[in-house]
Amino acid sequence: MPIVKITTPEGDMRAIDAPVGTPVMKAAVSAMVPGIIGECGGDLSCATCHVYVDPAWIDKLPARTADEEDMLEATSEEPTDCSRLSCQIIMTKDLDGLAVTAPATQR
Ligand code: FES
Repeated sequence: MPIVKITTPEGDMRAIDAPVGTPVMKAAVSAMVPGIIGECGGDLSCATCHVYVDPAWIDKLPARTADEEDMLEATSEEPTDCSRLSCQIIMTKDLDGLAVTAPATQR
């Protein structure tokens, strides 16, 4: 099963199982990783699943949709070119080892 490496706001790195087809947000919430909330359940209406993707991985992800771009304007922490909403990152085998960092705050 693929894993995702998530650095928490406290600087701890958690490597969690993320089944193929699962949004990173859902895998993180299931594993109770601090710093990723996912309040809307993945409906693109809360932006509390914001993560900074490791630059080495950003080009391996599908492009942001216009709706994700809009929601990234509502994040608590300033978005960057590597910002994504983790509910929109669907795990694939090729994303095994994906590394992301949770921002200091989500709201
Ligand atoms: S979980 Fe709400 S926008 Fe991602």
